[in-house]
Amino acid sequence: MIDKRPLGKDGPAIGAIGYGAMVLEGYYGASDDGAAVETIQQALAAGMTMIDSADAYGNGHNEELVGQAIRGRRTDAFVATKFGIVFDPAWTGTDLPTGWGFSLKINGRPDYARACLDASLRRLGIDTVDLWYLHYPDPAVPIEETVGAMAREVEAGRVRHIGLSNVTADQVERAHAVHPVTAVQYEYSAWRREAETALLPVLRRLDIALVAWAPLGSGFLTGAVQEIPKGDFRQFNPRYSEENLVRNRDRFAPFMSFARDLGVTPAQLALAWLLHRQDAVFPIPGTRKAERIAENARAAELRLSAAQLERLDELVRPGLAEGATLV
Ligand SMILES: NC(=O)c1ccc[n+]([C@@H]2O[C@H](COP(=O)([O-])OP(=O)(O)OC[C@H]3O[C@@H](n4cnc5c(N)ncnc54)[C@H](OP(=O)(O)O)[C@@H]3O)[C@@H](O)[C@H]2O)c1
Repeated sequence: MIDKRPLGKDGPAIGAIGYGAMVLEGYYGASDDGAAVETIQQALAAGMTMIDSADAYGNGHNEELVGQAIRGRRTDAFVATKFGIVFDPAWTGTDLPTGWGFSLKINGRPDYARACLDASLRRLGIDTVDLWYLHYPDPAVPIEETVGAMAREVEAGRVRHIGLSNVTADQVERAHAVHPVTAVQYEYSAWRREAETALLPVLRRLDIALVAWAPLGSGFLTGAVQEIPKGDFRQFNPRYSEENLVRNRDRFAPFMSFARDLGVTPAQLALAWLLHRQDAVFPIPGTRKAERIAENARAAELRLSAAQLERLDELVRPGLAEGATLV
């Protein structure tokens, strides 16, 4: 079973590894709804308390799946969802170029936040979201205004904890001054370590948890990715371009061998490495496969010595991976 750890200063103790449900929406290839509900339930049974969703995943469909999976087992789950990416053409938003050849439309206005929460609660079939994130800050709306609106939902009892995603250290400080922020979600893994420079020091000082999205490098760090099929969203990711995939495989070969020498899978080593950072880090790996839930959960049992961690730090040094990352 996965050990529990406190989600920052304000959050409850929950499984140190959570489950990322985005993978159930076809971004990484086809997914079957019946199997998806069972996979979420298996994640809960394995101690992955935090189930991570967003209203934009599958345009609301992902929250419906999570809602089905937690029916009758609400107290086992710590339900996290997000708003801010506009997917309903009835709403406007601010254009946010991602650097991957497409833009997102972001809306951080109070009326939009409220309407999104109404819809999320309905789709999830619950009265209160445990952790409600702003998915991306709206460049046209001061973060204080958005977080002020989120704080009113905490007062109204419709949200337990506030989270931010894809924010800078400065935005965290400004938001936290309006209302305590419990968790920040950011891409963090052995091949994406930018969070260590400015963000993690602020989170540590304010005792805010870091929820690490794409903790397996969107699959790369498992060593299992051969080629990217058509329709897979990693086709947009420069790290997965034909040349970069070859380069990155070479550069991370020592990491894969290190896992083999330890007798664990690369996925387990990638997750254990995150759990051994000094901060309150919660990886949320996504998978559509039941056997991988068990494999990923077992990463919580791996204990790495100081010498092993030092060696790993050299093997996955910041900047090692080739290819620009998402905003
Ligand atoms: N805040 C944000 O902006 C943001 C952005 C992206 C993601 N997220 C959240 O973070 C969660 C995790 O990120 P992610 O799903 O994009 O990336 P990830 O967890 O790093 O990787 C998922 C990929 O790894 C594969 N995989 C998982 N476990 C494996 C194992 N043990 N062995 C081999 N392959 C394995 C999955 O394939 P199979 O399904 O075939 O196992 C899938 O292709 C998402 O589900 C979402 O909830 C948030």
